Amino acid sequence: MILANKVAIITGAASGIGKAIAERFRSAGARLVLADLAAMPEPGSHQMDVSSESDWIRLISDVLTECDRIDVLVNAAGISLSNDTIETCTFETLTKTFDVNLCGTFLGCKHVIASMRDQGSGSIVNIGSIFSRVADGKCAAYTASKGGVGMLTKSTALHLAKTAPGVRCNQVSPTFTLTPMTEQWLAEPSQGEVHRRTLEKAHPMGRLGQPWEIAAATLFLASDESRAITGADFVVDGGYTAQ
Ligand SMILES: NC(=O)c1ccc[n+]([C@@H]2O[C@H](COP(=O)([O-])OP(=O)(O)OC[C@H]3O[C@@H](n4cnc5c(N)ncnc54)[C@H](O)[C@@H]3O)[C@@H](O)[C@H]2O)c1
Repeated sequence: MILANKVAIITGAASGIGKAIAERFRSAGARLVLADLAAMPEPGSHQMDVSSESDWIRLISDVLTECDRIDVLVNAAGISLSNDTIETCTFETLTKTFDVNLCGTFLGCKHVIASMRDQGSGSIVNIGSIFSRVADGKCAAYTASKGGVGMLTKSTALHLAKTAPGVRCNQVSPTFTLTPMTEQWLAEPSQGEVHRRTLEKAHPMGRLGQPWEIAAATLFLASDESRAITGADFVVDGGYTAQ
């Protein structure tokens, strides 16, 4: 119960990694605020667009009215629209991807800080990607957005360490993980199985990630067990980026 009595906002909580984090946090005793573009018929759920500043301002205000505090924010909402290279990627794809993955994370971090500073404690965990560290020529927009999240996490952590002692910001960077985001092309009838085997071989541990494995690392960074850790990037990647 390492999150007992802690109020935790999780974005992207309707699916995949965000949903697994919500389940793990619930069993660790957290009081959950589930935020997603998709409607969820669950107590504590809020429909919102992470790329909208007014949605963030409303969410934070609602949560403070309801719960009086915010201990944890996990920015897990994200999109991957296409596997285009820099030459084939449209500017529209780039801006949409940045809006959700990078601007959404920026807005969440920016607007949660004041209440955490007032409390004297808090933990922000951004869900990055192996592509925060290494590039992929086939998904220019996604890779660039996650590279941005990596540096945003560090900049936020450095600012907080100086101005809000006790408030931390870290990142969990998953490899290819079995969620609807990846299943959409791994289930593709003609090439899906080939893609899956190629990807598995690219990982030293010979397999892809499971959402609960990402949730386990997120739980540690969200909890007081990691109270001396800020600005860190925990890769959960079966050794992919060690190569
Ligand atoms: N699955 C992977 O292989 C993988 C690998 C590395 C990083 N990630 C990252 O993990 C996070 C979760 O991905 P996933 O695989 O669980 O994807 P997913 O598609 O299963 O879930 C993403 C969730 O985000 C929500 N969302 C999308 N746009 C939103 C918006 N504008 N506002 C609010 N919610 C929005 C969706 O409705 C969905 O519920 C993302 O940030 C993704 O980039 C995923």
